[in-house]
Amino acid sequence: MKIILLGAPGAGKGTVAKLLSEYDGSVQISTGDILRSAVKTGSELGKKAKAYMDAGDLVPDELIMALMRERLAAPDCRQGFILDGFPRTIPQADALKGLLRELRIELDFVVSLEVPREVILDRLTTRRTCSNPDCQEIYNIKSNPPLPDGRCKKCGSLTIQRDDETEAAIQYRLETYEKKTSPLIEFYRTEGLLRQFPSVSSVETVAAVKRQLGK
Ligand code: AP5
Repeated sequence: MKIILLGAPGAGKGTVAKLLSEYDGSVQISTGDILRSAVKTGSELGKKAKAYMDAGDLVPDELIMALMRERLAAPDCRQGFILDGFPRTIPQADALKGLLRELRIELDFVVSLEVPREVILDRLTTRRTCSNPDCQEIYNIKSNPPLPDGRCKKCGSLTIQRDDETEAAIQYRLETYEKKTSPLIEFYRTEGLLRQFPSVSSVETVAAVKRQLGK
């Protein structure tokens, strides 16, 4: 599959992307995971991105496009990918359109995950994420808890709250989403690629995406 997952912070993009990737081996490309891993290893990209991320602001488009140009051209993307958290702005969506044309890749469709704001706030304050940069498994202390000692069920590393999970940063991320990312819904509707799904249960969302793909 070759799809984009759109949705507010906490809508469940990462959770759905991981399930879809396990289903048919398409690679999950999460710009958030790539950036958090870069921050952890202290790379040049990580140093440039950290302050934006901690404040809940978007990382500049040029940095993201340089990263994605390289990532989408990698051989493992040929068989399929799930874009999780990219594109995030109209300039990124425009640049992606050109890049896909250049790489002769055709998208199946764009999934928009629709979740009420109060559900989002609850999910973000109760999320825990594996601290291992190569794992980054997502948990929720209410709906999908890690092991009783707070460790990841997959790799045994400690699970943590992300640096952008303070109340102020969450608020700012939601405002940034409304201002800069939500216009992508209209962008992809105009392109004829938009498919909207209420993201109540991730398993049901995954089933609906599979149906849409005709699988
Ligand atoms: P990123 O990591 O992409 O964060 P985000 O979009 O804010 O999304 P989240 O990861 O917070 O939420 P999610 O929708 O994946 O939800 P999840 O599945 O975890 O980006 C982080 C930062 O990086 C940005 O702020 C920005 O600075 C930078 N960045 C990244 N990409 C960028 C770009 N393209 N351009 C510029 N900057 C960029 O679920 C949330 C919680 O809910 C979890 O606890 C989960 O277990 C739970 N949950 C999920 N689904 C369900 C369900 N159906 N029922 C019950 N619980 C559920």
